[in-house]
Amino acid sequence: MQSPRRSGRELGHLFALDPARTHLNLGAFGAVPRPVLAARQAWAEQAEADPHRFHRVDAPRAVAAARRSAADWLGVDHEALALVSNVTEGVSTVLASLGLGTGDEVVVSDHGYGAVRLALGSWSEHREVVVREVPVPLAATGDEVVHAFAAAVGPRTRLVIVDQITSPTARVFPVREVAAAVHAAGRDVAVLVDAAHVPGTLPTDISGLGADAWVGNFHKWLFAPRGTAGLWVAPHLRERIRPLVLGWSSAAGYPESFDARGTQDLTGWMALPDALALWDRLGGWEMVAQCRGVVSEGHRLLADAIRAAGFDIDLSVLPDRPAPTMRLLPLPPGVVRDDASADALYERLSAHGFEVAVLAWGGAGWLRPGAQVVTEVDDFRHLARELPGVLRDVLDEPALSA
Ligand SMILES: Cc1ncc(COP(=O)(O)O)c(C=O)c1O
Repeated sequence: MQSPRRSGRELGHLFALDPARTHLNLGAFGAVPRPVLAARQAWAEQAEADPHRFHRVDAPRAVAAARRSAADWLGVDHEALALVSNVTEGVSTVLASLGLGTGDEVVVSDHGYGAVRLALGSWSEHREVVVREVPVPLAATGDEVVHAFAAAVGPRTRLVIVDQITSPTARVFPVREVAAAVHAAGRDVAVLVDAAHVPGTLPTDISGLGADAWVGNFHKWLFAPRGTAGLWVAPHLRERIRPLVLGWSSAAGYPESFDARGTQDLTGWMALPDALALWDRLGGWEMVAQCRGVVSEGHRLLADAIRAAGFDIDLSVLPDRPAPTMRLLPLPPGVVRDDASADALYERLSAHGFEVAVLAWGGAGWLRPGAQVVTEVDDFRHLARELPGVLRDVLDEPALSA
């Protein structure tokens, strides 16, 4: 059931967020509402009331139920979805399960997530896997994106990793079309969709994408406790997919093989059904549409404020299909040149009370603000008032951005 739009301030009591700070990056690490924290705590107390019975009987049942509720929510078969801790784990799981070796090629774009590219770097260093990083211009059209991936597929390509919502550039890639073009270019190439930001922001017919595997976080936008993600695998690949941690459930086959990980606290997973139910109660996709409106308006306010202060920024370089709840904002030239100067600006803004992503990508600097259900246009107005002064300070004191 959908509820009418309530302001972020009205909903503030649902979250433990510090009201003295302006939170414009709640997608990166999520924000867990109090009712979900309480559900998790209830499981933790049940565990302490009878640790033996809980871990032998209740926990396996609750994990299986959470896994099935996630599959139902995503609209996929129960046999198709395993729970993993995060996309980082999901990607490493697929890499390890494919048995890549010397000379095998993996394709990823230069919009790929840093930790995923580092994981690939490790496979390259230790297993002599060849990593092809496809450059995709920021404002590339959907067709150009598809062509860039397909053109990188060669006879040795075993895997293509494509982001559904890119992290450093906050744009949507046409993953269905990429998967079709990659498969047309190389029948045996697996396509893994990195959908870290997708659950709770972009409705997706996962099994209709034509991908071989898809992994998305429930803890970014869907209110789940951190460390809760779903790994979907196409039927033909399920037999080969093994969890990174082998244990009691390993022999059960996919997806149950992912359920047991020794004596680990899985109460976060057990609270996933509560997170999904709360997301629905707060408005579901209607709520996401409202967040999209807030972030669009906020993005305009920030861009106007930067320009009104006399800085030259070029908005024509921005992608035409931005992420639903995040936007990319170019920073004036010279403010951010690399990761170190991005960190310096982040610290500056944080010291002023603003939590917002600052990125260096493609040799330039960017802000990547986002809107969650508690975010107000006023939060962006607040940043718009202070941002020009902070940018001027950084440019006037080069040591700050060194
Ligand atoms: C595109 C993308 N992939 C992977 C990840 C990693 O997610 P996690 O840290 O939950 O493993 C992120 C996190 O921001 C991301 O944006």
